[in-house]
Amino acid sequence: MTKTKGYRDWRWKAVWWHHFFLLWSTVEGQTRYGIPEELKQGSVVGNLAKDLGLSLSDIFERKLRVASEAGEQYFSVDAGKGELLVNDRIDREALCGQSASCVLTLQVVAENPLQLHRIEVEIRDINDNSPVFLTAERVLKVAESTATGVRFPLDAAQDQDVGSYSVKSYTLSKNECFSLKMKDLPGDRQVPELVLEKSLDREKQSIHHLLLTASDGGNPAKTGTSKITVSVLDNNDNVPVFKKALYNVSVSENSAVGSILVQVDATDADEGVNGEIEYVFAVHTPQSLLSILKLDPTTGEVALIGRLDYESSAKYEISITAKDKGFPEMEGHCRVQILVVDVNDNVPEIIVTSRPNPVRENAPKGTVVALIGARDLDSAENGKVTLQLPKNVPFTLKPSFSNNYELLTNGPLDREKVSQYNIEITAFDSGSPRMSSKKIISVSVSDVNDNAPVFSQPSYNVYLKENGVPGSILYSVSASDLDSGENAKISYSILDSKVQDVSVSSYVYMNSDNGSIYSMHSFDYEKLKVFQIVVQAKDQGSPCLSSNATVHVFILDQNDNAPTVIYPSSAALGSLSHQRMPRSAKAGHLVTKVTAVDADSGHNAWISYRLAEATDTSLFTVNQYTGEVRTKRAVSEQDESSQRLLIEIKDDGEPLQSATTTVSILLEDGLHEPMLELRHKASEPSKKTGRITLYLILSLASVSVLSLVTFLILAVKCIRSSRSSGRDMMSQSQSFRSCMSPMSEYSDFTLIKPSSTTDFKEAFNNTFNNNRFLQKFE
Ligand SMILES: *[C@@H]1O[C@H](CO)[C@@H](O)[C@H](O)[C@H]1NC(C)=O
Ligand SMILES: *[C@@H]1O[C@H](CO)[C@@H](O)[C@H](O)[C@H]1NC(C)=O
Ligand SMILES: *[C@@H]1O[C@H](CO)[C@@H](O)[C@H](O)[C@H]1NC(C)=O
Repeated sequence: MTKTKGYRDWRWKAVWWHHFFLLWSTVEGQTRYGIPEELKQGSVVGNLAKDLGLSLSDIFERKLRVASEAGEQYFSVDAGKGELLVNDRIDREALCGQSASCVLTLQVVAENPLQLHRIEVEIRDINDNSPVFLTAERVLKVAESTATGVRFPLDAAQDQDVGSYSVKSYTLSKNECFSLKMKDLPGDRQVPELVLEKSLDREKQSIHHLLLTASDGGNPAKTGTSKITVSVLDNNDNVPVFKKALYNVSVSENSAVGSILVQVDATDADEGVNGEIEYVFAVHTPQSLLSILKLDPTTGEVALIGRLDYESSAKYEISITAKDKGFPEMEGHCRVQILVVDVNDNVPEIIVTSRPNPVRENAPKGTVVALIGARDLDSAENGKVTLQLPKNVPFTLKPSFSNNYELLTNGPLDREKVSQYNIEITAFDSGSPRMSSKKIISVSVSDVNDNAPVFSQPSYNVYLKENGVPGSILYSVSASDLDSGENAKISYSILDSKVQDVSVSSYVYMNSDNGSIYSMHSFDYEKLKVFQIVVQAKDQGSPCLSSNATVHVFILDQNDNAPTVIYPSSAALGSLSHQRMPRSAKAGHLVTKVTAVDADSGHNAWISYRLAEATDTSLFTVNQYTGEVRTKRAVSEQDESSQRLLIEIKDDGEPLQSATTTVSILLEDGLHEPMLELRHKASEPSKKTGRITLYLILSLASVSVLSLVTFLILAVKCIRSSRSSGRDMMSQSQSFRSCMSPMSEYSDFTLIKPSSTTDFKEAFNNTFNNNRFLQKFE
C-alpha cells in the first residue's frame, strides 16, 4: 500500500513540474496560461503584452484591460509591464468543483484599434483540502454470533482536491478483530469495508473503538479520520449458573413464618433479558412443599410460609430452576436440602394408664398402686423423658417397659397420719432447654383396723355422794378410735367383777353407745366407800380391738349421822348419870369425860363439846375438844351438892348434826381421894375381871406404842422435808404444824382419800376408846 502511495506521489509531482515550466502556450491564436490555485494577490500570471505582440507603450495607450465576467474579479493587467496579475484569491474547488480541469476564459480588450483577445487561464489544483468523512463518528452494531469474514461497508472520505490530491488510501487503527478492505465500485470508485477477522465475545469485550483514517495523495498527505464504535450485540449464549449445585441448610423447626431459609443465587453472563434471571421451583415440586415454602422469583430467597415440624418431616429436598428471559430461554438448576432441626417444643406428657386404687394402709412395700406412662413427641434427647417423684412420699416408680412405669408403695403407710397422698409426678425431657410437666396423682389410703379405742384417761376417779338417787348418771367415759368407719365405731361395756361379793352389774349399768354409767343404787358411805368398775371400749372392726379402763368410784360422805354419846351411856346409867366428886376438890379437878362418836367421817365426824346449861356455870367447864368436865374453881360450902350439866355435842358437818347429854354431879363431903378409891375399886374385881383388865392394859400399851411410832415417823418426815426445802423457822413450824394436822396425817398415810377419812375416824375412835379405857380405870 505504502509503496503504491509513494509511486502515485511521484507521478503527481512530475505533472506539476511540467506545468510550472511551460507557463504559457499559444493554442491556435489563443493565449493560455496555467497557474496553481490560491496564488497571492499580485502574483504574475504571464507577460500579456509580449504574448499578444504589443509594445509596452501600446499597453498604456491602447488601454489594455481584462474585461467581462469573472475575469475582472480575479485578474488585472499591470499597465507598466504589461503583465497579467492575480487580483483575488482563486479557489479552484470553488470555481470548478470536482471537475478534473479548471480553465478560466478571460477577454482582454485593447483599444485604438479595438481588439479583443481571448485568454485562457488554467487553474491548477494544489493539495489544499484534507479528506473528510461525512460522519465523524459511526456506530456499528454487530451481533456476537456473527461469523468471521463478514464485511461491514464504511463511508468513503471526500476530498475536494482532485486528481492526485484526492483521497488515495485508508488505514484502520490496530485491532485484532477487524481489518480493513477496499471494495471497488463501478466508476473506479472505492469504499472501505470492515472485515470481521475473529468472532466477537460480548462477555469479553462489548465495545471496540476503531479509528478509520483516509489519506490523500498530496505530499505531505493530508488525512481525515472517522471514529467507528463497534458495539457487540449480546446473544443468549450463556446459561444461568448457580453459585452452588447444592444448598444444604439446617433450619430449626420453630422458625417463624416469613423467615428466609436460604437464598439461592445464579448469575448469567449475558446481557439484558438474556441475563435477566427468574427463579422457579422445578416443575415436579410437590404441593406439600409449595404450601410451606415460597420462592421469590427475583431474589431467589426461599421463605417459610407455613410451619415446619420436625416430628412430621425432618428433611425437605427441592429443586430450583433459574431461567433467563432470552430467546431461546436458557436454564440452570440447583438443589436445596433443608434439614429441620428438632427443637424441644413438645412438653413431656404423663399418662395415667390405670387410675390408682385405694391402697390398704397395711399394704406391703412394693404394692402396685397405679400404672403410668410418659410420652414426648420430640426426638432424641428432646424426647427422652424421666419421671420424678417428690422425696417425701412412700412411693416409688419402677420402670416396666418403654416409658411405662409402675407406681409402687415404698414404705409403711398409716392412714391415721396421711389418708391421702397427692403425689406430684414431674416429667422432664433431656432437651435444652429442658421442658417439664407435672401431674398430680391422688392415692387414697384405706383404713385397716389397726388402732384400738383409747379411753380419754387410763383410769377415772368418780366421787359420788352417798344417798344419791338411783338411776342417775354416775359418770360418762369416752374413748376414741383413730381408725375410720366401722373400725372407729365404739361400743362400751362393763366387764364383770365383784363388789362386796355382788356382781358389779347390780350396782351400775352402762349405755353402750356413749359410755354413760348409771347408778342402780343409792350408796351408803358407811357401808361401801370405794369400788372399781372395769369398762371396755370395743370397735366394730374385724377383728375388733378393745381397751380397758378402770373407773374408781369413791362414795363421798354426807353428814347423815348425828354424834352418839357413848359415855356417860344413857343406856347404862340412865338419862341422868351421876358423878361424885369431893367437896375438897381444887380448881381444875377432872370430874368426868363426856365421849361421843359420829358414824360419819371427816368434818362430819369432828365432834366438839359445849356446856349448854349448868346449875352453876361458874363452877364447871367442858373442854371443847376432849369433852373433859373440870372444876373452874375450888368447891365451896355454899355450892349445891347436886349439880346438873347439859352438854351439847356437835359435829362439823353441813348441815350440822348434834346431840345432848346431861351429867349429874354429886358433891360429897369426905370423899378425898377419888383416885385411891378408884384404885381400890380396880383391885376389887374378881380374878376374871382382873385378867380382862390386863388384856386391856396390854392392848392400850400396844396402841400407845403404835401411836408414838407413828408420831416419830411423822416428825422425822416433817423435819426432813422442811430441811430439804430449806425454809425459815416460821415456815418450818408451819410445815410441822401441817404435818401434825389430822388432814396431813391422812394424806401421808393413805393413798385413797375416803379410806383415809375412815382411818382418821378409826384413829379417833381408838383415841376415844383409850380415853374410855382410862376412864374405866379411873
Ligand atoms: C448437610 O449439612 C449437615 C449438617 O448441617 C450434614 O450433616 C450433612 O452431611 C450435609 N449434607 C450434605 C449432602 O452435605
Ligand atoms: C348418753 O345417752 C343417754 C341416753 O340417750 C343420755 O341421757 C346421756 O346424756 C348420753 N351421755 C352423753 C355423755 O352424751
Ligand atoms: C380387759 O380386761 C379383760 C378382763 O379382765 C381381759 O380379758 C382383757 O384382756 C383386757 N383387755 C385389755 C386390752 O387389756
